Amino acid sequence: MPAPAPPLALTMILNIQGAAFYNSFEWENIPDPTHGRVNYVDRRTSQEQNLTFANADTFILRADSTSFLNPSGPGRNSVRIRSRRAYTTHVAVFDIRHMPQGCGTWPAVWEVQGSNWPYGGEVDILEGVNDEGPNAATLHTGPGCTMPTSREGFSGVRVENNCDATVNGNVGCPVRFPSPASYGPSFNAIGGGFYAMERTPSFIKVWHWARDDASVPNEVKFGNGGGGVSPDNWGAPIALFPNNQCNINQHFGPHNIVINLTLCGDWAGSVYAQSGCPSTCVDFVNGNPQAFAQAYFDIAGVRVYEQ
Ligand SMILES: *[C@@H]1O[C@H](CO)[C@@H](O)[C@H](O)[C@H]1NC(C)=O
Ligand SMILES: *[C@@H]1O[C@H](CO)[C@@H](O)[C@H](O)[C@H]1NC(C)=O
Repeated sequence: MPAPAPPLALTMILNIQGAAFYNSFEWENIPDPTHGRVNYVDRRTSQEQNLTFANADTFILRADSTSFLNPSGPGRNSVRIRSRRAYTTHVAVFDIRHMPQGCGTWPAVWEVQGSNWPYGGEVDILEGVNDEGPNAATLHTGPGCTMPTSREGFSGVRVENNCDATVNGNVGCPVRFPSPASYGPSFNAIGGGFYAMERTPSFIKVWHWARDDASVPNEVKFGNGGGGVSPDNWGAPIALFPNNQCNINQHFGPHNIVINLTLCGDWAGSVYAQSGCPSTCVDFVNGNPQAFAQAYFDIAGVRVYEQ
């Protein structure tokens, strides 16, 4: 038998903090592919309207919370950013102090291939709607990527096994997180926390640690002074997507990191009333700007590691 491989150590290649977001990401002022009641603005507009804001260790990304909307005009201004670089085998660490909350919000931190969706794969790291926690981490792929029923090696709950985005109304293969502190108001109440994603040809893993969790690895919490990370030492992930029945190299192309905040749309809009939210989603977004004062990301940093 060959000797077991030593724990993988990955080297930091990108440390994005504060104003560095403006260089590392592109602002996607595109029509919302998920039909949300948003208007994704360009970088200049986002800065002029303070929808993005940066200082030394803070990057804010938010929806407008002051304008009343004309029901027949464009949606509420918001922001969607995509990393300039794309990654295959890598680790991404997200230190997030606050995430968007409120009825109608659908925030996401995720990765996707630029074109030909879903055949290049999609990895949703942090995503949800209408303050309905906890988080779920989800893969969306073309046909032929499924997950085993085994629950070994991760602490979350697999909700669906078939990652194929072309069936089951595109629910993909979500793993639900055990902790309410992984999403929305509960996440924000304790100052947020850390998300990390590791992708190799053998698996995709997602971890979450609450801000005050004593088990946050120091290299996740403090960035290890620009040194590398060894995710093999982080303990079991919350979500594990192995390659047994899913050829990761075949189903996942080079991925960009995307951070977006849409309102209503295919998911948040369709379950809006079930979430206990008032009025209809679109009317609420149009007429209640002040309800979006908490609809912002406060990101302390994003770090990316490769071999
Ligand atoms: C936002 O993110 C989610 C990722 O989960 C994605 O499915 C959706 O298409 C994105 N929405 C927009 C409007 O970009
Ligand atoms: C822009 O947003 C930041 C962060 O929320 C805030 O500190 C700052 O005062 C805002 N600037 C203006 C001009 O409103």
